[in-house]
Parts: sequence; C-alpha cells; structure tokens
Amino acid sequence: MDVYGKMLMEGDLDAHFQVEREDGHVSTYSFKEWLGKHPKFNTWEKAIFDYLNKGSILDIGCGTGKHVAYSESLGFTAKGIDTSEDAIKIGQEYGRDLECLDFWKLDEEAKYENVIIMDSTVGFIASPEKLNEFFQKMKTILSISGKLALTSINWPEATNSDYKEYILKNKKRDQYPGYVKLRFKMENFTGEWFEGYYYDMDSLITVAMNNGFYPRWIGGSDAVKYTVVFENKGEETLTF
Ligand SMILES: C[S@@+](CC[C@H](N)C(=O)[O-])C[C@H]1O[C@@H](n2cnc3c(N)ncnc32)[C@H](O)[C@@H]1O
Repeated sequence: MDVYGKMLMEGDLDAHFQVEREDGHVSTYSFKEWLGKHPKFNTWEKAIFDYLNKGSILDIGCGTGKHVAYSESLGFTAKGIDTSEDAIKIGQEYGRDLECLDFWKLDEEAKYENVIIMDSTVGFIASPEKLNEFFQKMKTILSISGKLALTSINWPEATNSDYKEYILKNKKRDQYPGYVKLRFKMENFTGEWFEGYYYDMDSLITVAMNNGFYPRWIGGSDAVKYTVVFENKGEETLTF
C-alpha cells in the first residue's frame, strides 16, 4: 500500500496536508515542502552535508528527491530510491535521478561513499526487530569509511504533553515507546494507517556501534529532532 504516493497524488502545491496520529493528535504541513521543485530546507538539514565524504550519495526513502537535488547542487553525484512509485514519478519529472526500489532489495555490489536517510525515515524502513539487519545490509552498500546520515526524533526529550501521553501509552502496551501509527489527511482524502518508529538517540547509536558504525557528528534542530552522521568502519579497523 503506497500511502505516501496516494497522498502526494491527491495533493496540490498550494495546499496543506495533515498527519494524524492514532491518538487524534494532528500536525499540518505544506505540500511545497514535499512536492515543490525548490523546497525549503532547515539549516540543520543543510549542515549534514558538511560531514559527508566527497563523491556519491544514495538517498534511501527519498520521496520526491528534494535532498537528491540539493546534494547535486553541492557537487555530489546523487541518486534516490523509494518504494513509492508516485513519489518517484513526481521527482523524475523534475529531472532527478530516482528509482522505484525497496531498500531491502538493493544490489549489494553497489558501493556508495555516502547514504542519507532523512526525515526520520529509518524507523519506517526498519522496525526494532530488523534494526541489526538494517545496519548489516547498510555495510554491503557503503564503501569502507563511507558515511551514513540518519535523522530521527529523540522521544525521551519530548516536551509536548500529548506526545508524552502517547509515549506512556506505548510503554503500557509493551510497544517500543517511539512507535507511531499515522495516516495522511486532506480535505477530501483520508489515507490508510501506517506504522513506524522514532528511535531515541542512545538506542540508535548503540545498535549502530554494535554493527561497526561510529558516530562522527551529531546535530539537531532542537531537543527532539536529531541527526547522526556515522562512519562505516571496515573489518580491518575493528580487529586489534
Ligand atoms: C517520511 S518520508 C521521507 C521522504 C524524504 N526522505 C523527505 O525527507 O522528504 C518516508 C519515505 O520512505 C519511503 N520508504 C518506506 N519504506 C521504504 C523502503 N523499504 N525502501 C525505500 N523507501 C521506503 C516511503 O515511501 C516515503 O516516501
């Protein structure tokens, strides 16, 4: 079920859309951020690129590929993949190098200097049970010393009272506290529910390090959103 594509195809550049959480909490976003040819970027998102290697970038879960276009403007060779056919179609119309492909089906021979996974997408690609497997697969895609930029939401630092209550509800029902069940909404459209995980920074870094990825830079917009740029350490540098 392509929940992203369905919502994007219903959208209009000047419109807004909502993301509803299962507890009824609603956030509103502008379509321009996702669909536009020249979307807005936050300073903290731009900062990530200063900590990447020169060369190639693969953007996994790229949506319409706004970070692919931005990477190219900085001189990187960039490609994006996403499972949403419609999101890819929109981005390709803007001339971006995008392919409709699932991360889990990526060719393991392809080696990139950098991988970026923006907008908390890591938790929509890998559930907690698959996080080790996610980093193991990443090792086969990244070059040695390759950089991996991940962004997420550090739920232990949440200050919003609705969100704190939702986190508590997750704990009570034995869910990972950063679990979310969401759906997109517009005036005449309500999408299907979909699930994901916002990984807290400590857990994400612990699992990454257990799999040979070392944090080289940590940044964030505020206490809740954060980015970590990891380095893929090669086998030979792990043995002493
Ligand atoms: C929150 S959106 C982020 C889009 C984009 N990175 C951005 O920052 O605007 C998450 C994206 O991940 C994609 N996605 C989810 N699971 C995926 C997978 N296994 N492989 C590739 N893309 C995936 C979805 O289709 C969706 O477009």
